[in-house]
Amino acid sequence: MAGMRPSGAVHLGHLVGVLTQWAKYSETADAFFEIADLHAYTTDFDDPAKIRGARDEMVAAWLAAGVDPQRSTIFLQSGVPEIGELQTLLAMIVPLSWLERVPTYKGQIEALGQKIATYGFLGYPLLQLCDIAIFRGEYVPVGRDQVAHLELGREIVRRFNHLYGDGETILVEPQPTLSEFPDVPGTDGRKMSKSYDNAIYIGDDEATTTEKVRGMLTDPQKIRRGDPGRPEICPLFALWRFVNPHKVDGIAAACRSGALGCVQDKTDFAEELNAYLRPVRERYAVYRDDPALVERIIADGTTRAREIAAGVLTDVKRAMKLL
Ligand code: TRP
Repeated sequence: MAGMRPSGAVHLGHLVGVLTQWAKYSETADAFFEIADLHAYTTDFDDPAKIRGARDEMVAAWLAAGVDPQRSTIFLQSGVPEIGELQTLLAMIVPLSWLERVPTYKGQIEALGQKIATYGFLGYPLLQLCDIAIFRGEYVPVGRDQVAHLELGREIVRRFNHLYGDGETILVEPQPTLSEFPDVPGTDGRKMSKSYDNAIYIGDDEATTTEKVRGMLTDPQKIRRGDPGRPEICPLFALWRFVNPHKVDGIAAACRSGALGCVQDKTDFAEELNAYLRPVRERYAVYRDDPALVERIIADGTTRAREIAAGVLTDVKRAMKLL
């Protein structure tokens, strides 16, 4: 089970860090992929149009990346009210102190301001646990920053089973599975992110991509061709790894010796990246231009998700003696 907030355009960092893994899961497992629109409201509650607008394009990018809607379930969080009901029930047994000590809570308030210090935002990791637990999700591919949420989720599940399970496992403890490529650098070397304005988007055209690659940061001590470079600190080199791992040894050697200059390296990489993205972009354009198809996929998945969620919610309510 995994989710993504519809909060902006999908970029290369999502593609190589998250979506390639989702695509693999979608073929081999009984997988659930959630449009976490309620989570988007925890920080962007004053911009519902942005959240609504990001939905279809985000799912178009998932499909373009190879997430298979036949074998897996793509669904809308707000379309599965069982998740919200589970949150109300579990809220009764989650100590406030557990939520307050999650690092993203204070960290995000420091970053985004008091505006987001709401009841809903405090409950963010509880809602996330409900997303997973309502399907008895076992494996959750997440980035490093989400591991603390999963840890809290496991504690909540343990407490629930202890209080109401009567020796049985009603809810399942989810486990994080870390991405092979957790942190993808952007053009300035910081983590690729819309908010840093350093991202290369699936929706960018090839000329824009080439322009962005030309502007990328490389080893600042390598001024001209001939100067020895340090691939280990170069964001451009880090991106090569994702896009063509077969070439990295040769590039590292040529950069270190000075034979390869950054200008040439950027030209080569822009070509390689555009070739890598081309099939994804072609599929993306097909889905983006057919929102009715995307919405049908979401609606079908949401119906399927609700059926499973309803069964688990019934088990939870029985365990709590509500039924
Ligand atoms: N919090 C996740 C993120 O920001 C998104 C998310 C919401 C999620 N619900 C989830 C991830 C359930 C995994 C499982 O990346």
